[in-house]
Amino acid sequence: MRKYVIAGNWKMNKTPAETTALINEMKPLVADAKCDVVLCVPYVDIAAATAAAEGSNIKIGAENVHFKASGAYTGEVSAEMLTACGVEYVVVGHSERRQYFGETDQTVNLRTLAALNAGLKAIVCVGETLEQRELGYTETLLKYQTKMALTNVTAEQLKNVIIAYEPVWAIGTGVTATADQADEGNGYVRAAVAEMFGAEAAEEITVQYGGSMNAKNAEELLAKENVDGGLIGGASLKAEDFSIIVKAVK
Ligand code: 13P
Repeated sequence: MRKYVIAGNWKMNKTPAETTALINEMKPLVADAKCDVVLCVPYVDIAAATAAAEGSNIKIGAENVHFKASGAYTGEVSAEMLTACGVEYVVVGHSERRQYFGETDQTVNLRTLAALNAGLKAIVCVGETLEQRELGYTETLLKYQTKMALTNVTAEQLKNVIIAYEPVWAIGTGVTATADQADEGNGYVRAAVAEMFGAEAAEEITVQYGGSMNAKNAEELLAKENVDGGLIGGASLKAEDFSIIVKAVK
C-alpha cells in the first residue's frame, strides 16, 4: 500500500516561539488527516516543534543532516543528534542546498545513507532546472539524481525513503508544474526506483510533488496516479492553507 505524505518544509523561517504558535494552530486543523503529516523545521526550532506536536498526528523533521557521526564539521548536525531530539524525518538534497551550498549527488547520497542508518525517514529531493527541461534532459536527470541518491541503500532501507520531485523552476515562483508535468516527473522517479529495486518496490514508494503547491492546486495535483503527497514550502507557513492541502488527500 502506497502511503500519502504531506510534508511542510519551513526553510529559513520561524523562531521557536513562532513555531509553537503555528503548530498549536495547525494541530486541530489536521487532526483527521487521511495521510501522514510532517513538518520539517529549522534545527533551532526542533525542540519547540516536538513539544508542540506531542500527542498529535504531526511528525517533526529536520531540513538537512550531515553524513558523519561526529567530529570537526563546524555548523553541521548529525543524524544521531536529530533522533536524540525526537526528529523522525529529514529533507535531503533540496535544490536550495544544491544551488546555494554546493551539495552534489555524492553528498546527497552520503547524507541519505547517514539518515537511513540512524533510523530516520529521508525525504530525498530531485528536480530539474528550467534550462535542463528546455534542453530535454528532464527524464535523464531525474533518473540520474534518483539513482545517485539511492546508491547503496538497501531494499529494507528503501521503505524509509520518500522522494520529492521538485522542479527547480516551480519552487517559490508561484509557477506550479501542471498536474500532468508533476505526474510525468514523479513517473520518471518511480521508473528509476523500478530499475534499481524492482517493480514492487517502485509501486510502494511514496513520491511527492513539490513546487508552489498550494491550497488551490493541491487537489488536482494529488489526484494524479504518481503523486503520493506534497512537499510544501510557502503554504506550510500558514495553518489554514497547509490544512487545506492535507485535506486534499482523500
Ligand atoms: P514552495 O512551495 O514555496 O514553492 O517550495 C517548495 C519547496 O521547495 C519545498 O521543499
